[in-house]
Amino acid sequence: MLLEKIFSERGWDFRDYKRSSLKRRILKRLGAAGVSSFSDYRDLLDRDPSEYTRLFSNLTVKVSEFFREPSVFDFLAGEVRRDFSPDEGIRAWCCGCAHGEEAYSLAILLSEFLSEEALGQTKIFATDLDHEAIDAARRARYREESVANVSAERRERFFFRDNGCYKVKYNIRNMVKFGALDIVRSPSISKVKMLFCRNVFIYFNKALQEKVFEKLDYALKPGGLLVLGKAEVVPSAFSSGYVRYSSSGKGISVYRKAE
Ligand SMILES: C[S@@+](CC[C@H](N)C(=O)[O-])C[C@H]1O[C@@H](n2cnc3c(N)ncnc32)[C@H](O)[C@@H]1O
Repeated sequence: MLLEKIFSERGWDFRDYKRSSLKRRILKRLGAAGVSSFSDYRDLLDRDPSEYTRLFSNLTVKVSEFFREPSVFDFLAGEVRRDFSPDEGIRAWCCGCAHGEEAYSLAILLSEFLSEEALGQTKIFATDLDHEAIDAARRARYREESVANVSAERRERFFFRDNGCYKVKYNIRNMVKFGALDIVRSPSISKVKMLFCRNVFIYFNKALQEKVFEKLDYALKPGGLLVLGKAEVVPSAFSSGYVRYSSSGKGISVYRKAE
């Protein structure tokens, strides 16, 4: 099986990702490489190992944007103002951060609320499986379509123009620490007060969702906020430890971990 080969040759473990979307993506690579069967594709991988890199970049979906689903960020802005002190730094984690849009959005939101001193103590860890995505996140340079949800006022305050693109200003970039981390295989970060893991679980099968959730649960402090994608929920084995905000409304999957 191709997924076993990818794992044994490269250590990338997609074996418990949902098969339907993986198959679509692998078939797309077969088409682009001009081969018509999986066995021919395996031969191609042996002949031309650089194909692994192209395959890898196709296997993960890195679609994101600043303030994706703006209602989630509006809701969080209200919660943070209600529950957190503006004078205390926040340790947060964006797991599966793609090209960094989500982590910088959170940094912007927090910078609008926290005092200078608290901002100095705030750290947002932002991690992804894909090294290239992390490199792009560190460059912090985005096309117009990535910032479609960013108001003119925020664009002015938190970005500068760079050859037709938008570059995030240094004070916001400085709040985010990027790193490559495979949440399936690596240990997690710890003691975070806010944890975003949006639109990552949708690619995992149920068993993998539970295995990974154990790491998220370890990472999040009691009373901390968990933000999932709108189609994602806390796995049933953990649901007694999490309260979903009923006020959060349809399509907003925000939870508080029990104290
Ligand atoms: C659709 S993007 C979500 C980006 C962002 N969280 C959002 O909702 O806009 C999914 C991200 O999960 C990452 N991902 C997939 N498997 C992962 C893993 N095992 N560990 C860490 N990140 C992973 C992908 O590389 C991709 O960047």
